[in-house]
Amino acid sequence: MPITQAREIAAASRLENVRYAIRDLAVLADELTRQGHRILPLNIGDPINFDFETPPHLIETVYKAMKDGKNGYAPSQGIPQALEAIRAEGTRKGITSVQDAFVTTGVSETVDICLAALLNPGEDILTPSPDYPLYSAVLAKLDIRLNTYWLNEDDGWQPDLMDIHKKITPRTRAIVLINPNNPTGAVCSRSMLEQIAELARRHNLVIFADEIYDKLILDDEKHVSMAAASPDVPVVTFGGLSKNYLAPGWRVGWGIVSGDAAAVKPYIEGIHRLLRSRLCANHPEQYAIKAALEGSQHHLVEVRKKIRSRRDLTVKWCNSTPRVSCVSPRGAFYAFPRLDIPEGDDVFVKELLVQKHVLVVHGSGFGQKPGTNHIRIVFLPDEKILGKAYQSIAEFIQKRYS
Ligand SMILES: Cc1ncc(COP(=O)(O)O)c(C=O)c1O
Repeated sequence: MPITQAREIAAASRLENVRYAIRDLAVLADELTRQGHRILPLNIGDPINFDFETPPHLIETVYKAMKDGKNGYAPSQGIPQALEAIRAEGTRKGITSVQDAFVTTGVSETVDICLAALLNPGEDILTPSPDYPLYSAVLAKLDIRLNTYWLNEDDGWQPDLMDIHKKITPRTRAIVLINPNNPTGAVCSRSMLEQIAELARRHNLVIFADEIYDKLILDDEKHVSMAAASPDVPVVTFGGLSKNYLAPGWRVGWGIVSGDAAAVKPYIEGIHRLLRSRLCANHPEQYAIKAALEGSQHHLVEVRKKIRSRRDLTVKWCNSTPRVSCVSPRGAFYAFPRLDIPEGDDVFVKELLVQKHVLVVHGSGFGQKPGTNHIRIVFLPDEKILGKAYQSIAEFIQKRYS
């Protein structure tokens, strides 16, 4: 008699808190596509889905690396030429106290490793709300309770300093700052960074500075790196090839650790342990890091021009459409407009998808103040597609709520 195993295999209960709203409606969208509808996808921040291309010199570099036999495991920390280029990039960003750099499988893995290397059971880190959901997913995986601070919509989605101050406890180890921000598009001023750094200094916190969009600043201002504004504070700055260099599928990210050398030493050792335990990041793609950071930056001029024009169209639409209002995004390619509607934004996005075939993400999937409703729009599609999507959303609002 063959032995059969018929009992259900339960997944770990801590996974109940792992959510990724950005892909929540994917199943329904697939079903509608199968029925023959064409979905306008304004939900995923992947430039390659639209009229953006990975710079050819990066593709050539990776292809050459593969042909040259760079197909085995790489060093756990990353290949030397990539590490050198990342450190030099840290210096260009104004970081004067770089202590370490390492390469990961996308910033997603930088976050995974940096949080796992820091947190003991019972401790917490402060994450923004609204939040890029990766952070809460990793925290759920580590069985760490959420401790969120508000981003203040009335202040252009800047971090609420009073709230951060209030939420720091003796068990708080770090604070996450996403700048430029996903989902709001906000960019922090130097003065804001200095005030956050002062709180970190006083409470011995690490700052995780997620700066994956640092080259996508849309107005005439300069991005200020958190670690440049606070050289003495322990900061891990996150960067990668997914957004600035239009290669999200390569899964290449990195971390730059800065601060006082003696203070960050044990933490760096912890990070290195975890880096070794997962062998290495993708090998041939790492050759593109130096080519990206030190080669032509020409594509960025075009990218910024396109997304600036699409941002302007988005903001104009938001502010001229009844029941919609929006803080103008200053970086990245997301808008987080507020909806004045008598039902939840989760219902809104589902019905919008079913009736108009436009896919956006509900604000409640990122976290928002009780009683408010939002949607996140990815404004990467060209003006024609965006115009069509916005017209459909306006018609939907008009019909549903008038
Ligand atoms: C703020 C932020 N951090 C990290 C990531 C993950 O990036 P990666 O593709 O490098 O894993 C994203 C992706 O959208 C993001 O928006």
